[in-house]
Amino acid sequence: MGFRPSQYVQYPSSEITSIMKRIEEFNYLQDIDAILDKILEEARSLSNADAGSIFIVESDRLRFGYVHNDTLFKQDEANEQIYVDFSVPINSQSIVGYVALTGNTVAIDDAYHLPPDSPFGFNAAYDRKAGYQTRSILAVPLYTFHGRLVGVMQLINAKDEKGRVIPFFKKIQDLIPLLANNAAVAIDRGIMNREMILRMVKMAELRDPMETGAHVQRVGAYSAEIYHQWAVKHKIDKQEKNRQKDLIRLAAMLHDVGKVGIPDHILKKPDKLTKNEFNAIKRHTVYGGRLFMNQTSSLDQMSMQIALCHHEKWDGSGYPGKISNIMQKDVKMGSPRQKSEIPLPARIVALADVYDALVSRRSYKKSWSREKALDVIESGAGEHFDPEIVEIFFQILPVIHAIENKFKG
Ligand code: C2E
Ligand code: SIN
Ligand code: SIN
Ligand code: FE
Ligand code: FE
Repeated sequence: MGFRPSQYVQYPSSEITSIMKRIEEFNYLQDIDAILDKILEEARSLSNADAGSIFIVESDRLRFGYVHNDTLFKQDEANEQIYVDFSVPINSQSIVGYVALTGNTVAIDDAYHLPPDSPFGFNAAYDRKAGYQTRSILAVPLYTFHGRLVGVMQLINAKDEKGRVIPFFKKIQDLIPLLANNAAVAIDRGIMNREMILRMVKMAELRDPMETGAHVQRVGAYSAEIYHQWAVKHKIDKQEKNRQKDLIRLAAMLHDVGKVGIPDHILKKPDKLTKNEFNAIKRHTVYGGRLFMNQTSSLDQMSMQIALCHHEKWDGSGYPGKISNIMQKDVKMGSPRQKSEIPLPARIVALADVYDALVSRRSYKKSWSREKALDVIESGAGEHFDPEIVEIFFQILPVIHAIENKFKG
């Protein structure tokens, strides 16, 4: 890896150093969403672009992956646009499609006045729908160092110091590709991490067919967005916020992997559980915690907190409670944790999981309407749930619903 020597000669070393610093932060992130967010942040700050999006190659199409747009939404606000779900074919009907098809970087000064011989079209439908005016575009293919295309990044509306839209400078057109290789590698890693976790979830799903990939991706996304708002409200430093948001999305997806240890006749029972059966099921929290005992990474640490504590309740009536040795055979439930004794990520997942369990069908229950589920969440404030988390959840309902639409089934 690294740059070929000739490239060092081409650019002033201060710019290379600044790019290396930007790239380094990619390595701290695990999840694909956090990685895409970071790549757009760095590419936009390097080019002073108002907006940008990344599309990911998915067989013969490009799937929309992430978007930034300073004009349409603030970075700190909950944003349902990032959960929009669509893809475009890899062909020259779109700019990103053309870039994927040919591997060429495309720089456009004015999207509405393309040269008549332009090999691609600009689709103004997105602008019209969003109420935005695209002018200058820089679209770059994202290749790994092995030359495999991972996606396309499109930067939109470079600005001068006064905020006026200008074309992308030639220098920027040369610098962005340096970031692109490393971005592609980070994206690859992010996709692999997500797939690895979904594979773990599948093992649990074989046991509990209702605990699906879609369910856990929703719980992961709700949790990440709730955390984001919590962190903004508590003025958490941006880098710390981004790292924790990254971790909670993945760790929340693993909240119920401990169900692998619960016998089928209990887990798949179509009716209400007996008291003994429910006592057995409570152990899924402890079994989950055991999986992350060797806390070698921050992801393990958070996964442990969430797996162990996602059924604790704010008022101290949850489970498993404080257990001195979670490796003990036939482990007994301890005295419940309450309020801030419950780690914040677990307080967040507790709400996200219950909301999603209620609106989903289970072996033992029908799916509930959103209204009925929201009533349960609202009336659980201060009892089952941390009231502050409930308040934040209601503030970001449009994002919650966008997530439900994206991960269906
Ligand atoms: P789950 O299905 O993922 O449900 C997670 C949590 O959502 C539950 O935690 C509960 O707090 C909430 N929840 C789910 N369905 C309902 C409901 O119909 N009404 C209300 N008020 N809350 C609901 P809980 O109770 O600790 O259960 C943990 C896990 O135990 C459940 O995970 C599920 O796998 C199993 N389970 C719970 N009750 C039953 C049951 O009656 N029959 C069967 N077969 N399994 C059950
Ligand atoms: C988009 O801008 O969302 C993709 C279509 C295009 O590149 O023209
Ligand atoms: C653990 O065993 O790490 C959690 C139980 C406790 O906090 O006492
Ligand atoms: Fe659970
Ligand atoms: Fe669950």
